[in-house]
Amino acid sequence: MMMLKSLKILLISILLGLCSEVYAGDENTDDFAVDEELLKLKGDPEYGEYLSGDCTACHQIDGSYNGIPSIVGWDEESFIWVMHEYKEKYREHPVMQMMAGRLANDEIAALAAYFATLE
Ligand code: HEC
Repeated sequence: MMMLKSLKILLISILLGLCSEVYAGDENTDDFAVDEELLKLKGDPEYGEYLSGDCTACHQIDGSYNGIPSIVGWDEESFIWVMHEYKEKYREHPVMQMMAGRLANDEIAALAAYFATLE
């Protein structure tokens, strides 16, 4: 009987520990920030055009809205910022989290450079 009780206490304290860890994780994302260096990365628009095939299946290249937001003509820093928000799962959206998660930092910069040239 004694054994069982201490086992329960052990389990509860482990669970509490897990919860507070999850909570701490949430707190960290509250002050989400993208590294200055990543924001200043100059992407290669031609490489971006090459990569953009994965995006234009959903996002309209002419900037029109078809239920999916337009991503053309953004300034590069905002574009990079948003992509990292998805990549770090700060912004909710499973598809975009997956898309951004697969991209390297220079690929994100290249896409930002390319889409910024479109209107
Ligand atoms: C399967 C469809 C799909 C694909 C493919 C896709 N996106 Fe998206 N994207 C979406 C949707 C839907 C949203 C809106 C999500 C939301 O509400 O946060 C979005 C949002 C975005 C946003 C933020 C727009 C805003 O107004 O806040 C950016 C930037 C973006 N996508 C870039 C890209 C890039 C770059 C690629 C290619 C690497 C890509 N997306 C591929 C569907 C897609």
